[in-house]
Amino acid sequence: MDQLKVFHNPETGKDIILDPRTTLRAEHRLNTVMRYAINHAFSLHVAQRQASRNDYPLIRQGFDCVPVITQDTASTLLRHLKTEYLDKQHLEHPPDQQEFPLIEKKLFMGLLEEIFQGTVDDMILSYFQSEYTVLFCSMIVTYPVSEKDITFKGISFKWHSDVAPDYHLKLLVHLNDAEEHKGGTQCINREHTKRFKEIGYVFNDLGNRLSDLSQLAKQFNIDHEETLLSPHTGEAIIFQPSNVLHRGSWPAQGPRYLINLGLVPSRIPWRQMVEQDFEAIVNNTESIFPELKVVI
Ligand SMILES: [Fe+2]
Repeated sequence: MDQLKVFHNPETGKDIILDPRTTLRAEHRLNTVMRYAINHAFSLHVAQRQASRNDYPLIRQGFDCVPVITQDTASTLLRHLKTEYLDKQHLEHPPDQQEFPLIEKKLFMGLLEEIFQGTVDDMILSYFQSEYTVLFCSMIVTYPVSEKDITFKGISFKWHSDVAPDYHLKLLVHLNDAEEHKGGTQCINREHTKRFKEIGYVFNDLGNRLSDLSQLAKQFNIDHEETLLSPHTGEAIIFQPSNVLHRGSWPAQGPRYLINLGLVPSRIPWRQMVEQDFEAIVNNTESIFPELKVVI
C-alpha cells in the first residue's frame, strides 16, 4: 500500500489517490487478457513489408500532424455529414458533441485508400512493423459551448491516455480548419507520459482527470512539455493514444468536424479486413475494443 500517493486536486478541492498499479492493470487487461499483444505478435511474424524509416515523430514522440486527404475529399465528407445527419436534426440547442457512423461504403473505402498510402502508410508500418486494419470509425462534431455545458464526453478534454492496447494508433482527420473553429489537441510525448504513468495518474478514474497538469508535475518533479496541434483541413493528428497523454481543446468559435479512426496491427492487409468487417467497423462509433477470440 506504500505505493499509493495523494495529490490535492486544486480543480475540485478534493484529494486524488494515485496508485501506480492502475497502469499495470489497464495494460494487462488490454494487451494480455483481450489478446491484443498476441495479435500483434502474430502480425509481426507474418509481416512481409518493411517501412523505409523508423525515425518518424510518430515513433519518437508518439504523435504527429500530417496531411492525409485533399481539400476536395474533406469537403465531400463534410457535405455528406451535413446532408445525411446534421441538416435533418431540428435541435434548438446542439449538444456539446455528437458522433455519427460513416456507413456509405464507397465513401469510407475511398477515404481509407487516400489515407493509407505513401508516407502515412510508411509511418503506420514503421510503428506496427506489420500490416494493420481499422477497428473503429466515427464522424464527430464538437460544438463551441461554454465550459459549464460540457457533459460527460468532456472527459476527452482533460488530460488522459486512452485505455487501449499498446500497439494502437488513432487518426483524427480534420474536415475543417482549426483556424475556423479554434479548437485543437494537446499532446505530451511518450517519455514524459511514462513518468505520469509511473505515479499512477494516467489510467486513474475518469472523474480524477485534470485540465491542468502543472501542480501534479510540480509535486512529483516531472518535467513535461505540452504541444498544441491545430490541424488544417485535410490534416490528421496521428498518435499513440495509450502511450501519450492528450486532451482536446474545445472549439471556441464554430463546430469542429472530424473523422476518428482507430487502427490495430493485422496479419492481413486492411483492404481485405475492412471488406470482411465493414459493418462492425463503421458501427463501432464508441471506439470499443472487442476481446479478440482466436488468432491463428
Ligand atoms: Fe483520448
